[in-house]
Amino acid sequence: MKFEYQNPTHLIFGAGTLARLGEVTGAYGKKAMIVTGGGSVKRNGTFDRAVASLKSAGISFVECDGVEPNPRLSSVKRGGELAKKEGCDVVIALGGGSVMDAAKVMAAAVFYEGDLWDMFPHGQANRRLPAKALPVITVPTLAATGSEMNSGAVITDEKTTIKSFVGGKCLYPKAAIVDPELTVSVPKDQTAYGICDLITHVTEAYFNGVDGTPVQDRFAEGVILTAMEYGPKAVADGNDLEARAQVQWASVVALNGWVQAGCLAPYPVHMIEHTLSAQHDIAHGAGLAIVNPAWMRFAAKNRPARFAQFAHRIFGIELKSADDMDAALEGIDRFEAFLRSIGCPTRLSECGIGDDRLDRYAEDTLLVAGNAEGQLPGRPAMTKADIVEVLRSAL
Ligand SMILES: [Fe+2]
Repeated sequence: MKFEYQNPTHLIFGAGTLARLGEVTGAYGKKAMIVTGGGSVKRNGTFDRAVASLKSAGISFVECDGVEPNPRLSSVKRGGELAKKEGCDVVIALGGGSVMDAAKVMAAAVFYEGDLWDMFPHGQANRRLPAKALPVITVPTLAATGSEMNSGAVITDEKTTIKSFVGGKCLYPKAAIVDPELTVSVPKDQTAYGICDLITHVTEAYFNGVDGTPVQDRFAEGVILTAMEYGPKAVADGNDLEARAQVQWASVVALNGWVQAGCLAPYPVHMIEHTLSAQHDIAHGAGLAIVNPAWMRFAAKNRPARFAQFAHRIFGIELKSADDMDAALEGIDRFEAFLRSIGCPTRLSECGIGDDRLDRYAEDTLLVAGNAEGQLPGRPAMTKADIVEVLRSAL
């Protein structure tokens, strides 16, 4: 293993921490742009509490509302222009993964010259990463993406329905205020999709990383087991604050880089799913629940011992040998059954997606994430035909 790790985001975790928003924001600016989504934070009082905290710290604000699920390039441009016009010096993301991702890119847009889409890989010759951004404070209202404490953002160009990603040091939030109380009103389906998303963040590295990462393996298994223990409780009773807190902490840990450190893993399941949610506007976590088990059955043929380890350590399935393929497949079946048990779809047809565009999904996936050989990196690397095969198996 050879790697570097640095996560500069100041994490403030715990019930009631929203009250500290003003104090924390005040360290970075005096005029905030508050980015929100479809309005749930207004309906449940979170927005008013955030504003009260800002006012008590003498911070003024403007609003950039209406960021949609699977956030669009036009929304991000709108937010960047608003922040510039209003002279904002700090950006607050108050919402789920879409809001946080959009807020990061808006903060970078203030300083970015030229077309914002140039920072996202989409088959262009020259990609220009952002070098500077306004300070961002994240306040997640959903446990899922882990965006609150990482440097990534995923945006969809609605004109081409290409969904792509950007990452960069300047996009790390300065602070993340992670208050599990803000998640108690999240409906059952979104709660379940978030659980699937966070688990998939660690399974990607677990199955696609380099060999010889035993500490990271057990970190990943700890996240998965915790999400599988507390996730169903959070789905069954949204007001179970203990379950909400454990799920939310798991979601932060799952993608703040610590679990993946040294694994050097690509994220093929995410890359395939992004194409589905870009074209069909389904929830990211729901798409992952469909793609991940299908991908696992494909990838297990290439690496049975790793999938047997997953089956044994997560589900306690006895192994006849280290590369017991029957046990590996049973583990995947059990994982898929878990996803179904919390209310996730596991077939494309459940989301109204048929087989008429499988080629297009594969082509778009490779356009964004294909390597020089035209394959999707992972273990194993996937050709266009492989991606189509995996999606066909999930119909
Ligand atoms: Fe994700």
